[in-house]
Amino acid sequence: MASSIPADRVPDMDKRNTMNLLLLGALSLPGTAMLVPYATFFAPPGSGGGGGGTNAKDALGNDVVAAEWLKTHGPGDRTLTQGLKGDPTYLVVESDKTLATYGINAVCTHLGCVVPWNKAENKFMCPCHGSQYNNQGKVVRGPAPLSLALAHADIDDGKVVFIPWVETDFRTGENPWWS
Ligand code: FES
Repeated sequence: MASSIPADRVPDMDKRNTMNLLLLGALSLPGTAMLVPYATFFAPPGSGGGGGGTNAKDALGNDVVAAEWLKTHGPGDRTLTQGLKGDPTYLVVESDKTLATYGINAVCTHLGCVVPWNKAENKFMCPCHGSQYNNQGKVVRGPAPLSLALAHADIDDGKVVFIPWVETDFRTGENPWWS
C-alpha cells in the first residue's frame, strides 16, 4: 500500500524541487544585486575630511580644491557644487578673492526647485514661482517661507569640506530651521 504515489511521479517531485530551487535562486539573486546600489545610495556620500564633513564635489564629481577653484572663479562668483547629503550647494567667492566660510544650499524652501544665481540682479531667483533670495541666500521675496539653508565651507588639506551648520543663522539671527 505504500505505492499510493505512482513510481512515475517521483521524478516529477525531483523536478519540482529543482525548479523551486532555481526559482529561489532567480528571485534572490536580483534581490541581492539590488541591495548593493541601495546600500551605496544610503551610505554617507564621499565622506572625508573628518568631523562629519563632506568634500564638496564639482560638476564632474571631483573634490573641489580651493586654490584651483579660485583660479577659475572670481570675486562674487556663486557656483553650484555637490554638498551635504548630495544637495546642490553654492560655493561663494568673496570680494577679496577668498572662499566664503559658508555654502548656500540651492534647494528652494518653497517647493524644492534648484534656485539659480542671477548675477545681473545680484540675487538667487527661483524660476518655479518667483521666490527671491539675496546674495547670501536670505529670502527677500515669497512664496518661499524661509531663507536658503547654510553649510560651513571649511578647507581641509586644500579641499573644500562642507560641515553641517547648527549655529545661529547669521543672516536672520535665528536658529537654523534646517538642523
Ligand atoms: Fe521656488 Fe516655488 S519652488 S518659488
